[in-house]
Amino acid sequence: MKTFASIALCSTFLTGCQALSTQVNPAPTALVDEIQKTSDTTSSFEKCLSPRAIELLSKMTLEEKIGQLHQAAGGRSKNLNSRLNEEEFDKVRRGEIGSYLHVAGAAELKEIQRVALEESTHGIPLLFAMDVVHGYRTIYPVPIAMAASWDDELMEEASRMAGRESASSGLHWTFAPMVDIARDPRWGRIVEGAGSDPYLGSRMSEAQVKGFQNGDLSAEDTVLATTKHIGVYGAPTGGRDYGTSDVSERTVNEVYLPPFYAANQAGSGSYMTAFNDIAGIPTTANEELVDGVLRSDWGFCGMIVSDWNAIHELTNHGIAKDRAEAGSLALQAGVDMDMTSEVYKKDLINAIKENPNLENDLNLAAGRIITVKEQLGLFDKGLQYHDVERERAEILKDENRALARKAAQKTAVLLKNENNALPITEPQKIAVIGGLAKDTMTQLGSWRARGDKNEVVSLLDGLTNNAPEGIEISYAKGTEVYESSFSYAPDRQVSVEDNIYSAPQADLAKAIETAEAADRVVLVIGEHYDWSGEARARTDIELPENQMKLAEAIFKTGKPVTVVLVTGRAMAIPELDEKADAILNFWMSGVEAGNALADIVYGEVSPAGRLPINFPRKTGQVPFSYSENPSGRPAHSNLAKDTNRSIDVETTPLYPFGHGLSYSSFEYGELTADTTSISSDGSVQLTTDVTNTGDMVAEEVVQLYMRDPYAFVARPRIELRGYKRISLEPGETAKITFTVQAEQSGIYVKRNEWLTQAGELKFFIGRSSSDIESETSINVTDQKRGSIPAAAIKTKVEVSK
Ligand code: NOJ
Repeated sequence: MKTFASIALCSTFLTGCQALSTQVNPAPTALVDEIQKTSDTTSSFEKCLSPRAIELLSKMTLEEKIGQLHQAAGGRSKNLNSRLNEEEFDKVRRGEIGSYLHVAGAAELKEIQRVALEESTHGIPLLFAMDVVHGYRTIYPVPIAMAASWDDELMEEASRMAGRESASSGLHWTFAPMVDIARDPRWGRIVEGAGSDPYLGSRMSEAQVKGFQNGDLSAEDTVLATTKHIGVYGAPTGGRDYGTSDVSERTVNEVYLPPFYAANQAGSGSYMTAFNDIAGIPTTANEELVDGVLRSDWGFCGMIVSDWNAIHELTNHGIAKDRAEAGSLALQAGVDMDMTSEVYKKDLINAIKENPNLENDLNLAAGRIITVKEQLGLFDKGLQYHDVERERAEILKDENRALARKAAQKTAVLLKNENNALPITEPQKIAVIGGLAKDTMTQLGSWRARGDKNEVVSLLDGLTNNAPEGIEISYAKGTEVYESSFSYAPDRQVSVEDNIYSAPQADLAKAIETAEAADRVVLVIGEHYDWSGEARARTDIELPENQMKLAEAIFKTGKPVTVVLVTGRAMAIPELDEKADAILNFWMSGVEAGNALADIVYGEVSPAGRLPINFPRKTGQVPFSYSENPSGRPAHSNLAKDTNRSIDVETTPLYPFGHGLSYSSFEYGELTADTTSISSDGSVQLTTDVTNTGDMVAEEVVQLYMRDPYAFVARPRIELRGYKRISLEPGETAKITFTVQAEQSGIYVKRNEWLTQAGELKFFIGRSSSDIESETSINVTDQKRGSIPAAAIKTKVEVSK
């Protein structure tokens, strides 16, 4: 890590600065002079710290600077603000706290902010933070579902709404977007991200940052985004949360980092480091990644926060002998704020005594935090975040609910539809079966912020209240809804047996009777919310026994069955695929879930969500991505050949990445290129026509894939490089043009170096990664080196009708 002095004196992080790092630290006032003298340089110090921050640093004691680095829990996630007592107010007066999480409320937070602004020595405001991940009070579908919309504008709009709602409630900072690519659905946190693909992930990442921040952090209706969890948090071994990620440097850079890069381009004001290690280096102490790649190579100037207790946990990783060393490693890596471990607060002073150079890192960290507070406008209008009237008007307003309903419509993925099972339009009796149909908590998903289950329209209520004339709904449970037994309570002993298979069967006979008395069944099965999310890894992503029993009993009745799958991850559901007439993957869809389900089931809206990850046939197929590198012995259907496959399952996924059906039908024209060759600086326009050949207005997601067939390293079988969700009237045709730059085929060579190679590039247009309609190819005539992760570069798409 560069020293405070060296940063003021060096124009880049990587050259010449290290030699200066042993210099004696100048006193703060001398530093200010130094900076003023060199104000025409482009040092990071000047670039990243506001004049007010520099001025304040010159007046603050070491303890006060450390105070800025401390983020305390102001309550618990289920009992917000509960720790904000008199003692806490005194800490704020003494400048011991930089930020609180697990707090919220315009009125509730006003007094403590006033104390910070008016009664603390330097009047530095507090930062109030919360995990507003897929809504604050108006909860919209979980992030993996939002990615299934393949609709960046929707993602941006929804994040904007969440930003407005939470800012009206006194919050400044959300711990979102979570942009960890995940190819292993055993990992419970797959629910929080955009799935398996770095191109789609990059688009969803930038859309969320734009939505939360809206280009103006100082506005009172925006919040600071935290792009998390930088590193490779999404690939823990075996899918077990917090575990080591041992992936190649190429994969880190080509697959896992692009969404983080895209977030920086979109202006993300903060990042959070991951809990886990990559090849032995926990991200919280990874100087090369955090201070090197993120800050130096990508030019990120904002604030970096650790994850919960992660600085202390560096001792568990075995790379710090004690807390002081943990603090010093994290600080040197460039982690500015310590989320709750109190290592910075309690142990940094000793570390600085041992190594005075750390004071420079401390200055930078405190300076970055103060600068962010200033960018948010908190010094000058901090109390304006506490307008109770605005909060009342904003929270759960009709417009927000309407957007949540639209989002839930757009995220549903129709996996299978035979025998005209959907939509249901004719008068008839429908039996809705399954405890999840009534479980409003589950629709709130994994991060519900201040979502209230009483404000959720259940799937059953939605289907009942919106039923067209002549459709009658009956209901039976069939399985009890699993009761969460292990929500964060480390003092309690909860065993595996107590856990996910413990939900009893409920009255199966009643469910069968209800199904038999109806014309068709809507069977609502899948995951309870508490099976997805943090620390919710599963070894088995199939249905649990009691739900399988229910499904089998219902199939046996011989009634047509539509499965509504509730899930936060890809699941392996081969039996459902074999026996159900239709399967609608409805994820966990937020406050308007039931209404949106009715819109789709009764045919008001044609579904057009597309899978952001393969759905495997069996758990053992994962991790399983459509864009793996080709094998020397590609998988073959004939088991007698020795090929890249398992012998007990088909070679393909059950439902591939990009898959999703419609109530309408679409015809694709040829894919044509406007040129046969481009330079490495150039771009190609790829065009196709798509016609709605059905008889209802419907949306289609047009997908563009690329393959580099011959390169200096093996390239993915195919890679997503563009998409567009379009709406077409019956009979209407749209012309879709994708402008792809040669650089989007760039291959990672080494840190900060990407190579666009000369040679052939193939392009494919299709309905999914396994359903390609047409292809074409062009030639890149020369090669060039660049520094942008290829998947992070956005393809321009134009639609004309
Ligand atoms: C731990 C999680 O990993 C992180 O995503 C979250 O933001 C923090 N807890 C705070 O709740």
